[in-house]
Amino acid sequence: MKHIPFGTTGEMVSPYCLGTMIMGTQTDRPTSFKMLDRFLDLGGNFLDTANCYAWWSGKTATGDESESLLGDWMRERGNRNEVFLATKGGARLKSINRVRDAQGNVAWDKVVDNYEYLSTHALRKAAEDSLRRLGTDHIDLYYVHIDDRRTPQEETLEVLNNLVKEGKVRYIACSNFRTWRMERARSISASNGWASFTAIQQQYSYLRPKAGADFGINVNVDEELLDYLRANPDVTLMAFSPLLKGIYDDEKKRAAYYNWHLFNTDDSRARLDVLNRMAREMNISNSQLVMAWLLHHEPRVIPIVGVRTLEQFDIAMSALDIRLTPEQMDFLNKASA
Ligand SMILES: NC(=O)c1ccc[n+]([C@@H]2O[C@H](COP(=O)([O-])OP(=O)(O)OC[C@H]3O[C@@H](n4cnc5c(N)ncnc54)[C@H](OP(=O)(O)O)[C@@H]3O)[C@@H](O)[C@H]2O)c1
Repeated sequence: MKHIPFGTTGEMVSPYCLGTMIMGTQTDRPTSFKMLDRFLDLGGNFLDTANCYAWWSGKTATGDESESLLGDWMRERGNRNEVFLATKGGARLKSINRVRDAQGNVAWDKVVDNYEYLSTHALRKAAEDSLRRLGTDHIDLYYVHIDDRRTPQEETLEVLNNLVKEGKVRYIACSNFRTWRMERARSISASNGWASFTAIQQQYSYLRPKAGADFGINVNVDEELLDYLRANPDVTLMAFSPLLKGIYDDEKKRAAYYNWHLFNTDDSRARLDVLNRMAREMNISNSQLVMAWLLHHEPRVIPIVGVRTLEQFDIAMSALDIRLTPEQMDFLNKASA
């Protein structure tokens, strides 16, 4: 994998970031270790986790699993310095038992009131706990995982800046922020001479959601953000759920996808039609073509690969070798109802 600049930070990262959300829960430990080894062997260095992955994966999951697994893997391999490590705070739950019953069923409507959010106390503890679980003295990229409209942004940004000053965090970023909230935060940081967000992590894939689609605490990329990014190359777009949970090659999975009602439009059908035709001509899967489209995207996008099995991992990696011409990109971009 040929590394690319991470915005204007001077850091070089792999064009793919490997998502580790379900490592240690839905993907077992030996498979996760193999996947991580394989990613590094291929030249990957960018890893994404969070301090809450993945508490919803069964009745005994705590949310420590992914970070702890990464900590163990880096310790066993002695490779902390080969990795550009991103984690997040703010979306861990104050108490899992308030939202999950003994069988492991989650009351999702109660989750939003149970996040730790972004106060000085919550964020400081979140970062220190992540460092401990990851077995490291620094996090390369530290995200606030969700927006918090109850805590003044100055408060959150000051803690983040202190973490940077102390060397515990190298760069900061946000996730699931509206563009205006990110811009306001960046201007507060700038006027105080504090560290500023260098990346934003949002949901982004080839299909476009309905206007006004409500993803709850999550935010999908929109035109406003893309316009902002074109004018601000110092902010990198990190795309989560690039395959929308794997709906591109399986109609049944698409129909069963919990957010399909937010994508079930003529626009999506037109885009799926173009995707199907082009993928068939190129003898690749729709999923591979979606990943290739993201890798060719302007403004630059770093997709966060979400895979459960080694087979899915290999498919995602094979998309790195797909070359799309400007005409093909144009054809994909212009597809609409
Ligand atoms: N900031 C945030 O709020 C946020 C939110 C979500 C995720 N993330 C980050 O983004 C990463 C990726 O997100 P995600 O897991 O939601 O990604 P995704 O791309 O939406 O979905 C991954 C799922 O797609 C399916 N899949 C993968 N490759 C496939 C293939 N070749 N063919 C068919 N199905 C395939 C698998 O589903 P099956 O398990 O059904 O096989 C896999 O679990 C996470 O690991 C995490 O680091 C961040």
